[in-house]
Amino acid sequence: MKNNENSMSRRKFLAVSSAIAGTSLASPASSLYAGTNNIKVTQNARKRIALVGTGIRGMRMFGQDIVRNYSDYAEFVALCDINPGRLAAAKDMIGVDCPTYTDFDRMMRETNPELVFVITDDDAHERLINRAMELGANVVTEKPMAIDEKQIQSIIDADKTNNKTCQVSFNYRYAPIRAAMWEVLRSGELGELTSVDFNWYLDHDHGARYFRRWHRLMEKGGSLWVHKATHHFDLLNWWIDSDPEVVYALSDLEVFGKNGPFRAPNCRSCPHTRECRHYWDITRDNTAMRLYVDNEHYDGYLRDGCVYRNDVNIFDKHTATIGYKNGVQAAYSLVCYSPYAGYRIGFSGTKGRMDAFIEENNPLSNVDFDQAIIYPNSGRRRFINVPKRGGHGGGDKLIMDQIFIPGSEDPYKSSAGIRDGALSCLVGIAARKSVASGQPVKIEGLTSIVPQVQKEYKRIIV
Ligand SMILES: NC(=O)c1ccc[n+]([C@@H]2O[C@H](COP(=O)([O-])OP(=O)(O)OC[C@H]3O[C@@H](n4cnc5c(N)ncnc54)[C@H](O)[C@@H]3O)[C@@H](O)[C@H]2O)c1
Repeated sequence: MKNNENSMSRRKFLAVSSAIAGTSLASPASSLYAGTNNIKVTQNARKRIALVGTGIRGMRMFGQDIVRNYSDYAEFVALCDINPGRLAAAKDMIGVDCPTYTDFDRMMRETNPELVFVITDDDAHERLINRAMELGANVVTEKPMAIDEKQIQSIIDADKTNNKTCQVSFNYRYAPIRAAMWEVLRSGELGELTSVDFNWYLDHDHGARYFRRWHRLMEKGGSLWVHKATHHFDLLNWWIDSDPEVVYALSDLEVFGKNGPFRAPNCRSCPHTRECRHYWDITRDNTAMRLYVDNEHYDGYLRDGCVYRNDVNIFDKHTATIGYKNGVQAAYSLVCYSPYAGYRIGFSGTKGRMDAFIEENNPLSNVDFDQAIIYPNSGRRRFINVPKRGGHGGGDKLIMDQIFIPGSEDPYKSSAGIRDGALSCLVGIAARKSVASGQPVKIEGLTSIVPQVQKEYKRIIV
């Protein structure tokens, strides 16, 4: 019964990812990477969309980018945020004239959107996902889908009570180098996969961003085990093609928060800016000033908050061992204060290995491609070079193409539904529990999801 529940969620999602694009998958397929201009649709066929959460991610990727690149396929019927000032500023920056709301339910009732983008703080995702589906809309939510197991179970339960669906915006899957690795793993070139090493490095600048804002609080983002690592655990689940079964983890907070040599509420009020390596002058960032500083008086949200505040209750180093249902073992780490940004990934199989070291956002680097190297047990090594392109390794544009453009294919099974969203979060939640208890934690029993070896990849044609 539970298995049926699990696969039902995915079937519902797959059906809607076709429905969102507005076409049957049986129709002649344009390439996933065909770009945005191949197919025109009539104005009245455009999806009626709404955005909830008009912070930087919502305003840019799910606001400006949609207006700029997908207006042939979608029209905004409403924007929503609990901060009225940020809402007004975002509306102006996005350049739409739809109504705005601080009350989500009222927005749903009055504008009846077909598709809602949930791009708020992480702790609010669950309620908005469930309510949007209940009130008749399909949903695309930013990661993480939810921050604890109760929220995940609530989404699984709500999903059974309506015929709407929820896609989790795992843009990391869409980066071409990661899709290339997925293809190698499926091809059998490495034989049977046995173990994976995966280390993610946030540089000082990127790492500090999570300690400036609400992400620093466990109760808002579930810690970086969930907020950030949900991306990484989702990649592992997708690459390994099995559900995670057990997690053992260690974690600590050693650089940010209480460890800092001094502190202030935020950078603008700080007397230590000369000595602080994390000083950020937000007044030089016009977009951040308009979205955040100009609207602090509504909610007290300090976008340039001090990374050394004593209330930081998340971790800045993370290591985990993850056992998969199919026997694969993964060794994972996430560090938040590296001199460079990027990741190392290594897959060991019965016939060989595949390794990659991908450095991200290095303006001094003149390497314009990402590389994975395959080392067969015997014979010559093989190099896979993929051009670097666009935000989040090229993933941001590709996921948006797939959401909006009719006929977009999904050759790498990159669309992620509620089950995928849940399992990626559950690894992080299990890791958190393991850190607290000192014991390995099983995925089964956290929610009604029973780990499986293989996922169902059949698409439903609608
Ligand atoms: N996939 C990616 O690569 C990626 C990148 C950046 C951010 N994100 C995700 O996007 C989301 C937003 O991140 P951000 O950096 O824009 O954060 P942000 O703090 O800048 O913006 C969040 C916005 O949501 C609003 N909000 C909070 N609760 C709300 C509610 N109940 N109803 C309506 N509005 C509400 C806040 O007022 C704020 O304007 C997060 O979930 C984050 O994980 C994903």
